[in-house]
Amino acid sequence: MKKFNLNQLLRTNIRNIEPYSTARDEYSGTALVNLDANENSFGSIGDTKHNRYPDPYQTELKILISEIKNIPVDRIFLGNGSDEAIDLIYRAFCIPGTDNVITCPPTYGMYKVSAQTQDIQCTEVSLTEDFDIDPKRILAAADTYTKCIWLCSPNNPSGNLLSYEKIEYILTNFSGIVIIDEAYIDFADSPSWTTRLDEFPNLIVLHTFSKAWGLANIRLGLMAASPEIISVINAIKLPYNINGIIQDFAYSHIKKHHTDKDIMVAKILKERAKLIREIKQIPYIEKIFPTEANFILVKMKQPRKVYNYLIEKGIIVRDRSNIQHCEKTLRITIGTSRENNLLISSLKKFK
Ligand SMILES: Cc1ncc(COP(=O)(O)O)c(C=O)c1O
Repeated sequence: MKKFNLNQLLRTNIRNIEPYSTARDEYSGTALVNLDANENSFGSIGDTKHNRYPDPYQTELKILISEIKNIPVDRIFLGNGSDEAIDLIYRAFCIPGTDNVITCPPTYGMYKVSAQTQDIQCTEVSLTEDFDIDPKRILAAADTYTKCIWLCSPNNPSGNLLSYEKIEYILTNFSGIVIIDEAYIDFADSPSWTTRLDEFPNLIVLHTFSKAWGLANIRLGLMAASPEIISVINAIKLPYNINGIIQDFAYSHIKKHHTDKDIMVAKILKERAKLIREIKQIPYIEKIFPTEANFILVKMKQPRKVYNYLIEKGIIVRDRSNIQHCEKTLRITIGTSRENNLLISSLKKFK
């Protein structure tokens, strides 16, 4: 393992930051009256439930998620989607105009967008033709200003897992931060990298409740990392990044339904198998890439025509044919049985 020094990696202004604090950080226990935060003590108009600021650290929700995911509480950060976690990683580690990160296209677009908004350069080391990483090329592209390497497994838009051994090689041989975005891990036949956080102090794993959990609307993402990294992220996040309504909803919903998540995933995987089986037989379909996610990347003749034809039928898919290694492809999310049947019959009728 290459030497890892968290303090050295952090931006100087972040290393010395004094986080925003409230009286409630100084006082634990149940107060008789709360006159410390300039809230409306009379309650909120119409009801009395929403006049207080929410728990900035989402303690109860985190304890629940920690038990379900088997990740210690002090290794968890919860964000407004994993997109918030992506943004905070740049804020913590990358000096605008100076530092750079490595991304491996084709991959999830927010790594680059978030970097650009903060004036951080992205060095792109493309995936191989079969959408795997080339660790030697990635490490060769890193210089002294490279703070992070972004990996997405299963990868969006290709759907495949990146090689476990190759990821391990990067984690072992890179002294900066390695982020593994596992937004789609619940659909994959592979253990999460959260099981190896103890071994790699430079590892950050991202999960989301937007995919297998079916909660994209509430914007809840998770970063798992060492307690040291998590405390830096907690110090720089907006104080109340997950609002109280969402904390309460997520707590009761996840508590009630967490055992149903696997049933939902099994249904999606069954539909995925059906979709692949049916689409494969269509003559103008050239290839369906191996997938471990809730979508398929499909190579075909005339993808733009098919895309427009599907729009006419009211079916929206994602045209990926303009991005590297994805020529002539559409990315299709697995729908419900009814939606997939409609898609299949429409695709069969395309001429
Ligand atoms: C790989 C990947 N990571 C993260 C996200 C965003 O997740 P969230 O909804 O938690 O912001 C997506 C969304 O499509 C994704 O494909």
